[in-house]
Amino acid sequence: MGEMMNVLVVDDDEMVRYVLTEKLIESGFSVTATNNGRSAVDLFRDTAFGAVLLDLKMPGMDGIETLKELRKQDPDIPVIMVTAFGDIATAVETIKLGAYDFVEKPPQISRIMVTLRRAIEKATLERTVRSLGKSAEESAALKKAYEKLKELDQVKATFLSSISHELRTPLTSIIGYAEISRKKLMKLIPAITDGDHKITKEIQQVKNNLEVLISESERLAGLVESILDLTALEAGKAEWRWEPLSLREVVEFATTEFVPTFRGKGLEFAVEIEDDLPFITGDRYRLFQVIKQLLSNAAAFTDQGGVTCSVKKVENEIIFSISDTGKGILASRHRAIFEKFSQIGDELTDKPKGVGLGLPICRLIVGYHGGRITVESEPGKGSVFTIVLPIGESMEV
Ligand SMILES: Nc1ncnc2c1ncn2[C@@H]1O[C@H](COP(=O)(O)OP(=O)(O)OP(=O)(O)O)[C@@H](O)[C@H]1O
Ligand SMILES: [Mg+2]
Repeated sequence: MGEMMNVLVVDDDEMVRYVLTEKLIESGFSVTATNNGRSAVDLFRDTAFGAVLLDLKMPGMDGIETLKELRKQDPDIPVIMVTAFGDIATAVETIKLGAYDFVEKPPQISRIMVTLRRAIEKATLERTVRSLGKSAEESAALKKAYEKLKELDQVKATFLSSISHELRTPLTSIIGYAEISRKKLMKLIPAITDGDHKITKEIQQVKNNLEVLISESERLAGLVESILDLTALEAGKAEWRWEPLSLREVVEFATTEFVPTFRGKGLEFAVEIEDDLPFITGDRYRLFQVIKQLLSNAAAFTDQGGVTCSVKKVENEIIFSISDTGKGILASRHRAIFEKFSQIGDELTDKPKGVGLGLPICRLIVGYHGGRITVESEPGKGSVFTIVLPIGESMEV
């Protein structure tokens, strides 16, 4: 990002100011904090800010007034409102006045960070779009094109998700009936074949076909579930169960499940978890999902050597990593693999088995936890996927 972005925090509650400032600095922002709207407006006049976190209820000049003033000075400034529980109506009002979004108190840090990054991204995009056009008309046309693009993206996501919903039921029937047919066939084999080799062979063929039918349908069902999951996460509609949890438990649970897989492929498998790890705030099921995805990738793309999983604490973060000695990933694809449907149009010779939604889903989940996921990899040498999670994510105020 180059230079550090300056964020203005406006809240009359000292505790909120303190925690937000700490967390923002930890995430690489620089911060200016003030306890009232009037001084926020003054500060804004003299300093360049990339975003504002603004309390709605403050004595004197309140959040709404402050928002109006700030946007008068800079109509593009992304402002996120911090509102008390039950203030939804006023909060929605602030959106109409140009606030980007609102978060409820007590503010959940991971949500603030996700919202803040999105707000900044959107503002940057809008500025770029505007600066691209030379004349005012040109930039208006570009802006319109951009809005249209965004709308299309939304339509596509909705379409994808409703189609996927529709596919669920028939797929379940296909899998169910194919399984029943296979079972029936197995029972009938002795009666039909009567020791005839030719018939036995042909029935074996039917059985194989049914097995392909079942496994391919299951793969399709998996794809449907992934699409639904991804679209829900992208739209912020996924359900979360936040709680303090021990990453050791989650990792041990996920890795145990994979022991037979690695053993079956003749791969070494080691799990190294540091003692006395602090608890983090997270969603157990979602983190489990992430670890399972990384393990299944490691298993799928490694044919010799082994896989090592490690968890440790470094300063204020927990570092979880999975390294393998598998086929590795070209440097030019290190970014793409975190984008959805990345291996469509891939120049891989062997047909990929997955659909390329695993890592994008992992990235979204880790992001919601206020963390990040990265890859280091070289073709032929192996890959290391690393997840960095902040400790003490949620704050009690
Ligand atoms: N450990 C790994 N070693 C080598 N390549 C990997 C590894 N993990 C991921 N990749 C590459 O990244 C691509 C994307 O991974 P991702 O998990 O998103 O999709 P997928 O496994 O192909 O499908 P699915 O949606 O079923 O998970 C993979 O197809 C593969 O090319
Ligand atoms: Mg995968």
